[in-house]
This record gives sequence, structure tokens and C-alpha cells, in this order.
Amino acid sequence: MGIPFLIPKETMDRLSRPTGEGAACLLNACYTDSGWLELENECLFAQTWMFAGSIDNVPQPGDVFPTTIGNKPVVLVHGRDGEIRAFHNVCRHRSAIVAEQACSNQSVLTCPYHAWAYGLGGKLRTHPHFNGADVHDVSRDGPGLVPIRLGLFHRTIFLNLDGKAAPFEDYIAPLARRLSGHDLSALRLAKTLVWEVKANWKLVFENYFENYHIFAIHPRLDAFALMTSRQGFEFEDKLFHTEVAFGEPEGGRGVGLPYYPGLTPELERLEGGYHLFPSCCYQIWPDQLTVFQVLPVAPDHTIENLHVFMIGDAATDGAFGGARQGVYDMWDELNREDINAIEWMQQGRYSPAFDGGILSGHWDPSHQHFAKLVVESMA
Ligand code: FES
Ligand SMILES: [Fe+2]
Repeated sequence: MGIPFLIPKETMDRLSRPTGEGAACLLNACYTDSGWLELENECLFAQTWMFAGSIDNVPQPGDVFPTTIGNKPVVLVHGRDGEIRAFHNVCRHRSAIVAEQACSNQSVLTCPYHAWAYGLGGKLRTHPHFNGADVHDVSRDGPGLVPIRLGLFHRTIFLNLDGKAAPFEDYIAPLARRLSGHDLSALRLAKTLVWEVKANWKLVFENYFENYHIFAIHPRLDAFALMTSRQGFEFEDKLFHTEVAFGEPEGGRGVGLPYYPGLTPELERLEGGYHLFPSCCYQIWPDQLTVFQVLPVAPDHTIENLHVFMIGDAATDGAFGGARQGVYDMWDELNREDINAIEWMQQGRYSPAFDGGILSGHWDPSHQHFAKLVVESMA
């Protein structure tokens, strides 16, 4: 497969040097080449745990929520038996998407092409007219929707397409440990913010776990928590993490919304940022949890979803509407500042004068680790 072909030996050498001593990130082709993205779809996104959505996307029996993992269509379904399941969102007949859009109160999933109907547990119920006009086959042993392995972490749902990843409990344990001081049980999804970025998905994350740029492009965040209080992201296998103590809360960050119950004074003044390779980032504040999900569309096109969770009624109660809007505005301002930088990097990835860059020994060991995880996944 592609690694020896796409990454020359000298680049592999640079990937493995100590950060700050000539180490570099991945080659430009990894950010611009559709063949590389295709490899990522097959070797990376399909073979690990990937964030797919929230219980709040399918809160009631009969709710259906289509989404994608890499380039693969999937669908979350809340069964009449109360179980939440995931399936490949493809009809076994002629490959049509079975669920085109989110919907509620369904008792079956009906393919829009020839109306084959699947139960919410995935079994084929009917394939009308299949053996001739008005000859309806209602036998229930036909090919059903193909199920996908599912893992739950509080309100968030992860999927493993190939079914062979390590146990979900092992994947999520490092993050669960770091969030153990927060009672996440009352979280509810308040809103999902969406942006489009003309850049590769990896640049979105490389920017996320880089604290170096904050002084230059985030004036409000820089004033909120000084650069001297920030370190580079650390990492533990597939979890990248940083935790920053801030002084006083402000609108959008800790003002006007209820805090997690029983927080220690230290956690009431803590911002935590966590990247779970390779699909999402969690941010924890005293009054919210956000999950930042990337959906790769093309080598230079990514959709970003920021799922904003708040505590109990704060997610929906009109009394908190102003404070909620303050949170959304804060994230929109911050993320638009980041999108500029991410798109600058994407443009530069078409230049032959860029060969993987220069990494700071202080800020960037996380970049080198990320590049290694990508390469190891593809080997
Ligand atoms: S493709 Fe689904 S019923 Fe034919
Ligand atoms: Fe940023």
C-alpha cells in the first residue's frame, strides 16, 4: 500500500527525529492528494473508533440520524426496544442510501428507491413487487442492514466500522480519567455549530493541538488565559491533552450557566482540551462540554461540527438563552480565527518550497506524534 510510495525515506527519517532536531510533519501530498485521503478512509477511519454523534441526535424510539464516517454512510437508529444501534446506511438491493435525512417516529427504514423496508433492528421486512407486479415478498430472512459496532461515552456515540478495533473501554479510558472530576451525567446537547473549511482535516487538528499560535491570532483568548500559563499538548497513545488554569470567567466561558455539580475550586477555573485521534476533540469548561468533530469531504475540504452540551435545563430553558448565545458567539469567533490559519496552511501545502516544516521542541511534540499515528495506521 501507499506508505513507501507516498512518503520518501528521508521524510520517514525526519518524522522519527527528536522534535526540535530536524523533525518534520507529513509531506504535502498527504494534505492534497485524493489517493491519500482514500487510504485514510480505508486504513484509518474504518479501523478505529470514530465519533459519530450524540444520544441527543436520536433521543426517542423511532428516531433516525444519518451521518458519515470518513466517506462511508452510516445511520444511528433508536429502536422501539429502547436500544440505540448503528448500521451501514446502504440498501442491500442496489446500494441506495436508506436514510437520507434525520427523522422521527419511524417504525421501519424504507429505502427510497424500490421501497424495501427494514425494521429498526436492521432486519428486512418487505421487498415489494420483487418477484413481479403485486408479488410481494414479506419473508423475513432476506439480507438486513449491516450493523456497526457501537460504543457510548455519556451522551456521545462512537462507531468502529471494521469491528476489529481494541475494546471501546480501552480507547476511551484515558479521556474518561481526565474528565472524572466532572459529573457528565446531566449533559444535554444544546446546539451543533457547523463550519466549512477549505483545508485538509489533519490541518484542523494540527491547529487544534497547537497552543503556540494563540498569542498571534486569538487576542481575546490570549487575554483570558495568558500564554505563560500554556504548555504544548501532551499525549498518551491516541489521546492528546492540555489543561489550562484561567483567572476569571467571562461571557461564553463560565458566566451565566450552571456549573457541573460538586466541582472543586480548581476545576471551576480549568479549561481542558483533548483530541481523540483521529475524529474529534473534547473541550471541558465549568459550564459546558463541546465535542469538535471533523468530516473530511475532499483533501482540501472539511466540515467542522461543534456539538455544544450544557448541564440539565441550561441546554434548552429560555431563561438561559442569552448565556447560551454567548457561548455560541464565543466559539464562532474563536473558530473563524482558526479557520483563517488552517486555510493559510492548506494553500501553502501546494508549494514545492514546503517540505514538512520545522517543529518546536517546546510546542510541537504532539505534531510529530500525530504524524506517526497517521503513518502507522496506513502501514
Ligand atoms: S436500492 Fe433500495 S430498494 Fe432498491
Ligand atoms: Fe486556535
